[in-house]
Amino acid sequence: MQKPKGTFDVIEEIQLYHMIEKAIRKMAKRFSVQEIRTPHFEHSELFHRSVGESTDVVGKETYRFQDRGGRDITLRPEGTAGVVRAFVENKLYANPQKVQKFYYVGSMFRYERPQKGRFREFNTFGVEAFGSAHPKLDAEVIELAYRLTLSLGIQPLVVHINSLGDGQSKALYKEALQAHLTPYLPSLCTDCQTRFETNPLRILDCKVDAQHEAILHAPKPLDYLVEDDQKHFKTVLHYLDAQGIPYTVDNRLVRGLDYYTHTVFEIKTDETLLGQQNTLCGGGRYNHLVETLGGPSTPAVGFGFGLERLIVALKAALKELPVESIDVYIGALGEEALVASSVLAAKLRKQNLAVESSFEPLSLKAQFKQSDRLNARFFCLLGEDEVRAGTVSIKDQITKEEATLKQSQAAFYIIDKLTHDHTCVDCDEGA
Ligand code: HAM
Repeated sequence: MQKPKGTFDVIEEIQLYHMIEKAIRKMAKRFSVQEIRTPHFEHSELFHRSVGESTDVVGKETYRFQDRGGRDITLRPEGTAGVVRAFVENKLYANPQKVQKFYYVGSMFRYERPQKGRFREFNTFGVEAFGSAHPKLDAEVIELAYRLTLSLGIQPLVVHINSLGDGQSKALYKEALQAHLTPYLPSLCTDCQTRFETNPLRILDCKVDAQHEAILHAPKPLDYLVEDDQKHFKTVLHYLDAQGIPYTVDNRLVRGLDYYTHTVFEIKTDETLLGQQNTLCGGGRYNHLVETLGGPSTPAVGFGFGLERLIVALKAALKELPVESIDVYIGALGEEALVASSVLAAKLRKQNLAVESSFEPLSLKAQFKQSDRLNARFFCLLGEDEVRAGTVSIKDQITKEEATLKQSQAAFYIIDKLTHDHTCVDCDEGA
């Protein structure tokens, strides 16, 4: 049996997922962002109404099916729609805390052509912040995304930013775009010909016509912003300047999902790492989505990171994978010693030490080998003599120091050594 195309098993790289998830939780705490978990599948209508019928994500890439009860279901292709649905359904807008920020980490599903950095099931870290239309919130969400990437040591990083404006600006831009595209219409792909009427902005992120001169020379949204929308954008940039976050205004950036208003942004890294899939993070403001999904008018802004892309970038930043290790390996000689090793392991684990022990009465040499493979800092030996005397022989594999102690003192001895040089596997757990 083989895994389906576009999916992957995580085995050695699990450490990198843990590193990233740890950094995410740390950063979320710093920015007062609370975790939210929503279903991996939703009613299809949710994505059609939010992400948009004419987007590639919904129009071409969904895993959509009828469940056994005849319901129209879609595996979530992105996280924003589900979080907004949960915000409305659970009446979170009634919370007296005006600004509420949520984050999530989990799988998304898109039927795309798999390639480097692009999968059919991938993981996203997303943030959605509700309740303020102030540009400060746009900037803070971008800051969070930027600082997370920076904290992982990923470089180079470029924040691309643009504004689509809202209501009147969007209408003016749509008109200008349609006027520009009209003479090219017969030479555009059939999807784009349909999009011309339904949603001309989506023509700009068409994968088929990406290099078409009509698209390359299309008018820019920034040139159509009304005064208030211009002011919003300038203020976002002012906040980024104040935070020392470098950015490039990218007036071609429109993003491939329908719900955006005002600010849109992406964080990109080097193409040599990820080729065309070098966008680590994408997001923006979506001031009408809560209302579209049945809630009261609530401004919001957020982003999504692709974890697998972050992992490629993180690997390059780390040069080599961190080495997995344990604190103690307990070797046992004989059946009686195996029982004693299980009791000693329990005692050490109770003290938060990472412990492995032998499962068979192997030779001493074979057990040392197992211990080395697991990178154990201490090798504990239980032979017949030790079992009889209630003792254990302990060898520090780094300093080569050896000691024979009462089994009841082993945990204290090992913890003392580890805390002295801060090398216990779980050292920072309590910090
Ligand atoms: P998105 O740009 O469609 O935005 O996806 C977010 C990120 O997920 C991308 O920047 C990319 O790193 C990663 N990604 C997308 N497709 C794939 C794939 N097939 N394989 C691997 N990684 C992928 C959203 O999903 C929005 N919900 C972001 C957002 C949140 N906007 C506002 N709030």
